[in-house]
Amino acid sequence: MNKLKIAITKGRLLEKSARMFELAGIECSSILSPGRQLLLPIGSGEMEAVLAKAPDVITYVEHGVCDLGIVGKDTIIEHATNLYEILDLGFGRCRFAVAGPRDTDFFTCGDRRVVATKYINVSKRYLEKKQIDAELIKIDGSVELAPLLGLSDVIIDIVETGSTLKANGLEILEEVCPVSARLVVNTAALKLRKKEIEALVSKLAAAAAEMEKKK
Ligand code: PRP
Repeated sequence: MNKLKIAITKGRLLEKSARMFELAGIECSSILSPGRQLLLPIGSGEMEAVLAKAPDVITYVEHGVCDLGIVGKDTIIEHATNLYEILDLGFGRCRFAVAGPRDTDFFTCGDRRVVATKYINVSKRYLEKKQIDAELIKIDGSVELAPLLGLSDVIIDIVETGSTLKANGLEILEEVCPVSARLVVNTAALKLRKKEIEALVSKLAAAAAEMEKKK
């Protein structure tokens, strides 16, 4: 049988994912010092990890080339169409928010507003729900720059500590929804490798709960 493959989001979620594996008794030093190797053995050789950008985690799991993935709910809402979200891991907590300069009249102003975001789908849905007429501009990184440069009135982005907003004179105008890391599974793999996946999920659930308690 092929090794179970798990795609893990690089960056903020990586260290916490490794902590969870350790607590679950799954050896994972390879993911903390991966070097140039791309398929990283974890556990006692029965699993392989792939480190990827968040949207790629979704792509690999949806296409079934990875059985499982660890990715933020923000990326799931924005990109996922066909995968099974099996566990809220509790770490990587942040929220989607509308932010802008203090006293921005975003909600009641009659004019067409301009919103900058990395998350076009999330923003579209939010604006539709609030019945706000706005132009959306896609920015790939440091979205906070858009209102500072006068490109947009506000941003819709994830906020974790709030320090990026604060450092740039911006404030949360409205919270949209909470976000945290999720364990996702390819829907076919969940049927074909049910026992293996369920055993892993229950170990990771216990480890994630322990991490939550230790916070
Ligand atoms: C995210 C987000 C904010 C920042 C918020 O960006 O887009 O810019 O983190 O975090 P804070 O509330 O703790 O300050 P990220 O660091 O992932 O980089 P990016 O903008 O290049 O995507």
